[in-house]
Amino acid sequence: MYRVKSGKEATVYCCRALPAMGGGLLAAKIYSLQIPAHYRTRNLYADGRRRMYRPDPRAERAIKAKGRFGRQLVFSDWVGQEYANLKVLHHAGADVPRPLHHCSGGILMDYIGDATRPAPMLVGTEPTPAEARRLFDQAMRNIALFLAKDRVHGDLSPYNMLLWRDRLVIIDLPQMVHARWNDEALSVLRRDIENVVKFFGRYGVKASATDLALDLWSRYRRAELTA
Ligand SMILES: Nc1ncnc2c1ncn2[C@@H]1O[C@H](COP(=O)(O)OP(=O)(O)OP(=O)(O)O)[C@@H](O)[C@H]1O
Ligand SMILES: [Mg+2]
Repeated sequence: MYRVKSGKEATVYCCRALPAMGGGLLAAKIYSLQIPAHYRTRNLYADGRRRMYRPDPRAERAIKAKGRFGRQLVFSDWVGQEYANLKVLHHAGADVPRPLHHCSGGILMDYIGDATRPAPMLVGTEPTPAEARRLFDQAMRNIALFLAKDRVHGDLSPYNMLLWRDRLVIIDLPQMVHARWNDEALSVLRRDIENVVKFFGRYGVKASATDLALDLWSRYRRAELTA
């Protein structure tokens, strides 16, 4: 129906499902082949992610060799990871779009917006202090829920949070890091929370990103030890 946004990593389209499929609006996120270059430069992400899988030496070798096959593997891993993260988190009750389908080049998910416009990014909005407090609490609830599912967003900012009908929806999840296996997880968590605190701080929310990150982290580790 219309193109929402073309970035360097993906283009997102607003589409309408066939009547037989309910006729609702869907977002098609089609990735550009440039992703792997960006992904490869961020060992931070690759590290935690690789350990989510049983290592496959042939795939590891191909990825290291950076040939065509290796690039294809990295690309489909990137797309598959975003789909898997959406699936797990949506199922857990997080405020992320419901994923419907994926293929090697992209993902179909619920569209956040309506037929005339997409949901605005949080960054362009100006919440009142009371709205800011409520949205901040919603963001923190989601960060805690992600962590309970062993995940840290890794690129959380007001650019990757949409605001639709008074509700935040968090998007853009291919680079999530694994909280248990990635040594940088706590600092990534703190950076995500800092971005959230900084945005809402402009609208009257007072919070310490470091305290919030350490508090969430210690609860996560305690829950892990008792599991
Ligand atoms: N499910 C959705 N419903 C409505 N709009 C969406 C949806 N998913 C993404 N968008 C829109 O498309 C834009 C790009 O999506 P996303 O952030 O996932 O991709 P990206 O490649 O990381 O882009 P960027 O580099 O700009 O962050 C978002 O900023 C948002 O405006
Ligand atoms: Mg984005």
